[in-house]
Amino acid sequence: MPNAPTLTSFGPGKVILLGEHAVVYGEPALAGPLSLGVIAQGSPASRCKLEIPPSVRGRGRKLLTDAFARAASASGLPKIGVAVSSNLPISMGLGSSAALSVACARTLLRAAGKPEKPEDVIRVAGEMEREFHAQPSGLDHTCSALRKLILFRRSLQGIAPSVSRIQSPRPLRLLVALSGKRGPTWKTVTELKERVARWPAHYLGLIREIGRIAREGAREIERGDLDALGDAMNVNHGILTALGVSSPPIDELVHRLRGLGALGAKLTGAGGEGGAVIGLFLEPEPALVKLNQAGIHCFVSQVAGPQAL
Ligand code: MEV
Repeated sequence: MPNAPTLTSFGPGKVILLGEHAVVYGEPALAGPLSLGVIAQGSPASRCKLEIPPSVRGRGRKLLTDAFARAASASGLPKIGVAVSSNLPISMGLGSSAALSVACARTLLRAAGKPEKPEDVIRVAGEMEREFHAQPSGLDHTCSALRKLILFRRSLQGIAPSVSRIQSPRPLRLLVALSGKRGPTWKTVTELKERVARWPAHYLGLIREIGRIAREGAREIERGDLDALGDAMNVNHGILTALGVSSPPIDELVHRLRGLGALGAKLTGAGGEGGAVIGLFLEPEPALVKLNQAGIHCFVSQVAGPQAL
């Protein structure tokens, strides 16, 4: 079919400003979209399938196939082949699986002739995310689907998830820096769940405190108080370290960003042996240049507020 139309959709990555891990336990978390993400291109085919490059083999291939099959059947099995490409660092805590899920969900829904309602994109992308992460809170793909800064609370015990859009009167500019390699999100989440189950008295108070900081941080953003937001990020990182989800490479990068003038810096995403760190800066460019010179992979993203002209 040489002139067959293609359908192209985008799913952005995300950063969690406050509240990762605690969100799994029903606390609110604050997350915003990145400009980097995943593109899914659909073209007519004899059946609904994901085009996976031959270099992806074994468990990775099976996981992608199974995840896509769930989204395909949730969207009515349109007859398209979907090819994906990404400029988002993969498996670094920046929501790459959610970005993939949202890009595929959008393309599948459009191919099935269904209007792309946000709730449908969230439902279909959620099918894929559940295959990737067992029991995700839903924060990553909800933020990617809505493409806005949100305060999110998961659905728990039959209560619907709650999502509020947070408006920032000031540009929220983050420097995102990567360090080392990390394992899968489910591993860090599961290991923390085991510690919580064994010693709830040590952990549940910390988890509730993260939720309180996320709510407070959202109010500080709306007031335009970036110094207070930066402080909330620093305190949140300290609690994540106490929960055991940070590591020396992450902590070192957090301190480096603070030394370069960040108002606040913390890990973002699940953490573990490595991953992404964010620093809140009024002007991140000088720090970006310094980190680039030191060979650290980093980039700047504005996640909310008025865009610079
Ligand atoms: C992963 O980006 C964030 C976690 O809170 C897990 C989840 O929300 O499902 C660690």
